Amino acid sequence: MKIIADKQELREQLAEWRREHEHIAIVPTMGNLHAGHISLVNAAREHAERVVVTVFVNPTQFGAGEDFDSYPRTIEKDTRRLKKASADVVFVPSVETMYPFGIENATRVIVPGLTEHLCGSHRPGHFDGVTTVVARLFALVQPDVAVFGQKDYQQQLVIRRMVDDLNLPITILTVPTVREPDGLAMSSRNAYLNEEQRKSAPALHESLRSIEEQLREGSREFEALEQSAAESIAAAGFEPDYVAIRRAEDLAQPGEDCIRFVVLAAAHLGEARLIDNLVVDI
Ligand code: PAJ
Repeated sequence: MKIIADKQELREQLAEWRREHEHIAIVPTMGNLHAGHISLVNAAREHAERVVVTVFVNPTQFGAGEDFDSYPRTIEKDTRRLKKASADVVFVPSVETMYPFGIENATRVIVPGLTEHLCGSHRPGHFDGVTTVVARLFALVQPDVAVFGQKDYQQQLVIRRMVDDLNLPITILTVPTVREPDGLAMSSRNAYLNEEQRKSAPALHESLRSIEEQLREGSREFEALEQSAAESIAAAGFEPDYVAIRRAEDLAQPGEDCIRFVVLAAAHLGEARLIDNLVVDI
């Protein structure tokens, strides 16, 4: 496994693989890797001969007062895990490499509409930073396949829309959320929880499960279900940003006849902002 920070060196490696007609998958990450990230690498291996994992804490997707500075950077541990998972290249660019004209002057890629609600309205500019960096990584690597996690449901939909709208010849794969044994979705941000908060944290997932159960039993009282889930996570010590029942395909408000829902929640617990979701196929 090669660790590459330089764009030219990356391009040379990619060109060598393309001469051999090998397919290339990319797994974009911000590092501090856990089993959720590794499951994306495993999925990538199944779909391409070569796997490039990118580790870049992207400044443009963090808002003022968010955790860009404190975001855990654990590159040595990450590269050990990636070697075990048989990644071919870990790309670890600097901010200057990703944004050679500076952040202020960077060309931006923005997906309107889909990014304006849910996490988009609670983290203004966040998804613009995500699409801006992912478009850059796609342009550099020109992958056949790109792998994302369902854990960030809105993110993978926004990236699918970007790829579709820009006609990028890239297949997007979405991999199911990997969870701790008690149901908490794995996240780098779980490390911000103290012992007591960590014990309360599965309440987020449990509240989604409870909505799932009620949707399956036939309830279509969406607002009441959202409200009571928000109250139950608040009772567990969270400050909810939102609990929302939406149409899985496009995050629109569901009608009574909807057969594929996604139930999403985002909430603060201590220093951590946690998100989770469940797709409910009726
Ligand atoms: P990061 O939070 O590091 O996540 C990288 C990828 O891992 C994302 O596609 C995310 O959905 C996936 N992931 C995280 N936790 C997961 C879990 N428990 N199970 C399955 N997959 C999981 O998402 C980002 O980084 C950034 O926004 C990025 C796309 C890299 C752009 O900077």
